[in-house]
Amino acid sequence: MYINLKILYGVKKEMSQSPEDFFGWFLVLVILALVVGAVVYIIKKKLDHRNDNKPTPVPGHPGAIDHKYAHALEIAMQFFDRGDSALTDGSEAKLDLSKGLYDAGYHVKFGFPMAFTATVLSWAILEYRDQMEAVKQLEPAQQALKWITDFLLNAHPSQNVLYIQVGDPVTDHKCWDRPENMTEKRPLTQVIASVPGTEVAAETAAAMASASLVFKTADSTYSSTLLTHAKQLFTFADNNRGSYSEKIPEVATYYNSTGYGDELLWAASWLYHVTADQSYLEYVTGENGKEFAQWGSPTWFSWDNKLAGTQVRFSYRNLKHGPSLFFLVHEIKEWVRESVTYKEGLAPS
Ligand SMILES: *[C@@H]1O[C@H](CO)[C@@H](O)[C@H](O)[C@H]1NC(C)=O
Ligand SMILES: *[C@@H]1O[C@H](CO)[C@@H](O)[C@H](O)[C@H]1NC(C)=O
Repeated sequence: MYINLKILYGVKKEMSQSPEDFFGWFLVLVILALVVGAVVYIIKKKLDHRNDNKPTPVPGHPGAIDHKYAHALEIAMQFFDRGDSALTDGSEAKLDLSKGLYDAGYHVKFGFPMAFTATVLSWAILEYRDQMEAVKQLEPAQQALKWITDFLLNAHPSQNVLYIQVGDPVTDHKCWDRPENMTEKRPLTQVIASVPGTEVAAETAAAMASASLVFKTADSTYSSTLLTHAKQLFTFADNNRGSYSEKIPEVATYYNSTGYGDELLWAASWLYHVTADQSYLEYVTGENGKEFAQWGSPTWFSWDNKLAGTQVRFSYRNLKHGPSLFFLVHEIKEWVRESVTYKEGLAPS
């Protein structure tokens, strides 16, 4: 570059002295063209290289696919697969509870963390749908979600009855079979109006409401069934307040709930998102919000505490029509990143 400029300068001086030196001008133009060409080429090369290594950040349109991560996602999705097992689960109540997820390495189906898993999986699908589709993982993700929501729908046979557990954790913890081979009895646990479980009913409502959004276009009948159950369960949870950990003390050994206020707000925020019904918004921002939300100071996000998630969901709603959306979203993300400690396997991106 430096040398070329010198040539340009030198030739220009010569030009004023000898007007017939068109060859000099020609040389200058050729050199200039070469320099500009080289610079453009180098910049383009650099940009291309950057795109090769860094897929476009999500959310947004799917960018370049990093096959390493696409493969990791595919393997993670297979985590939800198993062979046939516990096909008669639920039969003592004449229900089909053969689907759903076992907990950790056990064979117990714990409704509270299972519903939370469904809600978070729904959220992931809603947020990253295009990216999942681009790496052919949308279908497996939706199937995994439906495997849980099929169970949850069957576990809610009437308005004020929700089955929240299949299996006996005490006998199960002594069982070392594969679930495909187990022969243990599979007792059922339920919450009803007189033995309520507000957090588990509200979390199940959140799971169904969020899943109804996932299936909205692909299967509108299934989606509206989910929404109907979600609304009923939310009403059941709200009208019959009580922690399942207190009403059914055995559950406290495994998935003890430290309170149900967060699940009520979380469920209402999902229901508001799905229905745009102002009453759900007022539920969260009114008295219940004052009592439970701890706005501005979320601590962590887990199967037991959804306040941080509720706040993030509400930030979407409040910022939707805001003046400087990009800036505010960025601020909120930073704030959440700083103030929220992700627990139980949910790593920050
Ligand atoms: C477990 O079930 C599989 C078939 O699903 C069978 O091949 C195997 O022998 C069984 N194992 C035991 C210990 O019963
Ligand atoms: C369950 O949580 C409640 C509320 O935080 C607490 O008082 C109780 O001791 C916990 N029970 C167990 C078994 O951890």
